[in-house]
Amino acid sequence: MKPADVLKHVKGESLFTDDFPEPQGTLYAYIFDSPKAHAKIKRLDVSKAEKSKGVVSVLTAKDITGENQIGNIVQDETLLAENEVSYIGEPVAVVVAESLKDAKRAKKLIELELEELPVITDPRQAYEKGELIVPPIIFSSGDLDAAWNRCDVIVEDKIEIGGQEHLYLETQGALAIPNEDKIKIISSTQSPTAVQRAAAKILGWGMHRVEVDVLRLGGGFGGKEDQATPFGAIAALAAAVTNRPVKLVLSRPDDMRMTGKRHPYSIDFRLGADKSGKLIAYEVTYYQNSGAVADLSTAVLERSLFHTTNSYRIPNVKATGLACRTNLPPNTAFRGFGGPQGMFAIEAALNKLAEKLNLPAWELQKRNLIREGDIFYYGQKVKDNQIERCWSEAEESYSIKETIEKINLFNNSQNRYRKGFAVMPITFGISFTSSFLNQASALIHIYTDGSVGVSTAAIEMGQGVNEKIRIAVARVFSVNLDRIKIESTNTTRVSNTSPTAASTGADLNGNAAIIASKNILERLHKKAAEIFNVSPEDIEIIEEAVYVRGKKTEMKWEELIWRSYFERVSLSSHAFYATPDIYFDREKNQGQPFAYHVFGVAFTEVTIDGLLGTYTVDSVKVVHDFGESLNPQIDLGQTEGAIMQGIGWVTMEELVQNKDGRLLSNSLSTYKIPDIFSAPADVEIRFLENPHNPNGPFNSKAIGEPPFMYGIGTYFALRNGLKAFGVSDNIPLSSPMTPEKVLLALHSKQVV
Ligand code: MTE
Ligand code: HPA
Ligand code: MOS
Repeated sequence: MKPADVLKHVKGESLFTDDFPEPQGTLYAYIFDSPKAHAKIKRLDVSKAEKSKGVVSVLTAKDITGENQIGNIVQDETLLAENEVSYIGEPVAVVVAESLKDAKRAKKLIELELEELPVITDPRQAYEKGELIVPPIIFSSGDLDAAWNRCDVIVEDKIEIGGQEHLYLETQGALAIPNEDKIKIISSTQSPTAVQRAAAKILGWGMHRVEVDVLRLGGGFGGKEDQATPFGAIAALAAAVTNRPVKLVLSRPDDMRMTGKRHPYSIDFRLGADKSGKLIAYEVTYYQNSGAVADLSTAVLERSLFHTTNSYRIPNVKATGLACRTNLPPNTAFRGFGGPQGMFAIEAALNKLAEKLNLPAWELQKRNLIREGDIFYYGQKVKDNQIERCWSEAEESYSIKETIEKINLFNNSQNRYRKGFAVMPITFGISFTSSFLNQASALIHIYTDGSVGVSTAAIEMGQGVNEKIRIAVARVFSVNLDRIKIESTNTTRVSNTSPTAASTGADLNGNAAIIASKNILERLHKKAAEIFNVSPEDIEIIEEAVYVRGKKTEMKWEELIWRSYFERVSLSSHAFYATPDIYFDREKNQGQPFAYHVFGVAFTEVTIDGLLGTYTVDSVKVVHDFGESLNPQIDLGQTEGAIMQGIGWVTMEELVQNKDGRLLSNSLSTYKIPDIFSAPADVEIRFLENPHNPNGPFNSKAIGEPPFMYGIGTYFALRNGLKAFGVSDNIPLSSPMTPEKVLLALHSKQVV
C-alpha cells in the first residue's frame, strides 16, 4: 500500500504552511534584513515605513515584550538585531501590512545607518582572531605521540569542504493566529517545541499560551531543525502586537540569503600506517565555519568528532573541533549533521595514503574495517557490526575485480574519456548525541467506530515517518492500515518534542506509539477475556477479528471497541519512550552515545570527459543494512534521494561568498543542484538481511541520513578518474569537484 500522502502530493491536494486558508483579517509580514555582514547600528528609523500605505506596524527589537534571545544551545542570538549586525540577512525589522505588496513597498522606507566593522568569512582567520564559539573540543584515544614512531608511512594535507544550501521545496514560513489569550502558530518546523519556546520567550509569556501545529513540511533536511524558529517567533510577535493573524513566508531569494547552510569545513590531517597499510594513527583538526551565532554548530561539530574514523579501526586518534565564528548566516543542521565532513576527511586521508603506498584505496579500506567488539575512540563498543558483511556482499554482488578490469579496458581503449571507481563504506551512529533529546511521546485515541487517531512528536517532511508509525500501530492492533490516521504534530497533544532529526524520528516516535498502542491493546484483551470468560492471555486480535485460544470468534474489532467504550474502558493512551542505556561524559569525551550504528557500502563508477571536464556518474551500487524494513519503498526512496543529495554536495553545489560576506550563488541560476541529467545512470540498492535491531520499531533501522554519505564515493571516483588521465599529484582535496575544477586539474597536466 502506498503511503497516505502520496496520492495527495501527486494531485496537489497536500497542504503546506502557505496553503492553509488564511483567517479573515490576516496580515503579511516582510523582513528588513541587514545589508552588511558586520556593523554597528548607529540609527534605525522606521517612522516613514510606518506611515506607508497599508502598514499596520513595523517591529523592531523595541517591540519585544519578553527577552530578545532565541539561542538554542548557546544564548547568543537575537530575534531582531539591537546594537550590531553580524551577517547579511540578519533580521533587523519587520513590516506588517495588509498585503505583501504594501509590506514590500514600506520596507524600502526603513532607514538604517551602519558603521561597518571588519568582516571574517574564513574559519581559519576566525580561529587566528580567537573567534571561537566554544573552547576547542577534543576527542582522543591511544597515545598519538608514541604511535607516529611506529608508522612506516605518514601522509598529511589540508582539505576544503564546501557547504550546501538545503533548498527544501517549501521555504521557511509560519502563520500565527491570536486567539483570546493564546497564539497558535502553524509553522514549517522540524521542532515545534523550539518554536513554542522561542515565541513564548520573545513575548514574555508562559509556553502554555503558545500552541504550535505542523501538518507537514515540503522538506526540511535539517534546515528547519533550528532555523524555522525565528520565523515562527516573528510571526507570533507580529500577531501579538497587532492582535491579528500574521503570515510570514519567505521568498526563495530571501530564504537563500537569510538562512544558514551545511557547514563548510577547512581541515588539517595526518594519517600514519605500517608498510602493509594497517592504520596506526590519525590526527585531524576541523575548522568549522560556524557562521555568526552558535545555532546547532557545536552539536554538528561533535557529530564530526564522532565520525572521524568512519568504518575503520584506528588505535590512536586525536580529533580537534573548532567552532569558528564568521560573519555568515549561522550554519546549521543538514542531513548527516557533521558526519559527512568527518567521513570525507578520513576518506581523503586514506586516499592520500593509498597513493603513497601505491595500493588501491579500497584495499586499504577493506584491510582496516572495524570488527565486532572493537572500541570506538569515544568509548562505545562496536556491536551488531554489519560492515564486513555489507562489504563482502557488495563484492560478491558487484565484483570489484571485474569492475576494475572493465574500467582498465575502457581507459586503455581511447583517449578522451577515463573512468574512475571508488568504494564508500559508512558506519553512522543513531541517536541524538545530546542524550537528553532521545525521548518521545505519543497520544493515541481509538474512536467509537474503531478508527484510530495517532499524535506523536514526529514531523512528516517527505521522509515517510507518518507511514512508518501508521504501520507500527496497525501491526500492534492487527487492524487495516486505513483505520489509522496520523494527526498533525501539535504541542498541545504531544508536548516537549525533540526535533524530528538525527534520523531518529521513526525510532523514537514509533516506539512511543507502540507503547501507547500496547497499553490500549492490553485493556482490550482484558475486556474480551471478560466477555468470553477466559483469561487475557487467551485473547488475540488478528486481522480485525477476536481469537480465543487460537480460534477465531464472531467478534470483530469494531464490536470489541464499541463494547469496551460502552463498558467504560479507556480507549486512549499517552506513552513515553526514552532510548535506554545511552550516555556521554563531556569531560572525558567517552561514553555510549548511540543506540546502534547503521552500516553499508557503496561502489561508485564515473566517467570523465577529458576535453570538457564534464563527467557522468555511471553507477552507484549499494549494500545497505536497513534492519527489518517497515516499508521497503520508503527506505529505498530515502536511500536514492540521500545519495543524490550527497552527490550534489561533493560535485556541483558550490556556495560562493565574496569577501564582504555576500552570497553570490544566491539563486538557482548560480547555485546548481542535481537534476535528472546528473542522476547516476544506474542505482542498485540491495537490502542486507538483518532482522535484528531491538532498538528500532519491529527491528527496523533509521534511514534518513546515513545514505547521504554514499555520495562521498563520487568525489573519490572522480579523483581516481583524474589519476587515470595521469594527473597524479597535487589534485587539491577540495569539494565540490565541479567540472571547472576537473578541467583545471586536467589542464595543469595538459593530458588531452
Ligand atoms: N527526506 C525527505 N524527503 N525530506 C527531508 O526533509 N530530511 C532528512 C531525512 N530524509 C528529509 C528526508 C533528515 S536531515 C533527517 S534527520 C531525517 O530524514 C529525519 O526524519 P527521520 O528521523 O524520520 O528519518
Ligand atoms: N543530530 C541532529 N540534530 C541534533 C543532534 C544530532 O545528533 N543533536 C542535537 N540536535
Ligand atoms: Mo537531520 S540534519 O538531523 O534534520
